[in-house]
Amino acid sequence: MNKQKRDVVIAGNWKMHKNVNETAALLSAMTTVVADADCKVVLCVPAINIPCAVESVIDSNIAIGAQNCHWEKSGAFTGEISVDMLNAFGVSYSIVGHSERRQYFGETDETVNKRTRACLANGIVPIVCVGENLEERETDVTKAVIKAQLIKALEGVSTNDLKRTIIAYEPVWAIGTGKTASSDQAQEVCCYIRTLLSENFCPVCAQSVAILYGGSMNAANAKELLSMADIDGGLIGGASLKPEDFGAIVAAAK
Ligand code: PGA
Repeated sequence: MNKQKRDVVIAGNWKMHKNVNETAALLSAMTTVVADADCKVVLCVPAINIPCAVESVIDSNIAIGAQNCHWEKSGAFTGEISVDMLNAFGVSYSIVGHSERRQYFGETDETVNKRTRACLANGIVPIVCVGENLEERETDVTKAVIKAQLIKALEGVSTNDLKRTIIAYEPVWAIGTGKTASSDQAQEVCCYIRTLLSENFCPVCAQSVAILYGGSMNAANAKELLSMADIDGGLIGGASLKPEDFGAIVAAAK
């Protein structure tokens, strides 16, 4: 399948930004700037703001996503949010395994796999994040790191579910640093991810999986990154908090 036939997805990750009032105001501005989008637009907001966010985007082309979710339906897991709770609000996407969760909150490849499977079993599209840190890139083990993360994250995922899964390649050294991977560096790893999907899971589905790049994507560099053969969209942090910038990235996805 060629790139033109794959879904293009521009997803924002608001991280721990904005209270409920700021969420409503920012989403009101966002609905305007992305009204003519030619791609899927998702904004992953802090869990406590999901009810307000879902309400704020009614009648728009923005889907609301979560930034994380637990694999159990309910139980003694203080501080966690279940997929069932997300379903109750009609949330259709969740980021899974973001490097900040891995780095600061003990997320492992195994828990990423459990979250991914729970999402898929409950109609939520997981945006599964993989990426190497600076030391790993400098010691030339990027591909080995990506391979280990990806294969474990998708263990036990059926080919049908794989087609609905989104993979985000986010080099840790590029997140929030202003240091974007070059379009060639990003393409090389996104292409490698598609090869891994093809060799280890399903050659046909690998062609339809949306693979996003994330890490300091902005209004200025989006067009070039999004023009690469295996980059089907972006996972945007900082720039997804600025309507003008986010709107420009969405426009660049045309
Ligand atoms: P950034 O964040 O765009 O601010 O680098 C990306 C992310 O963490 O998903």
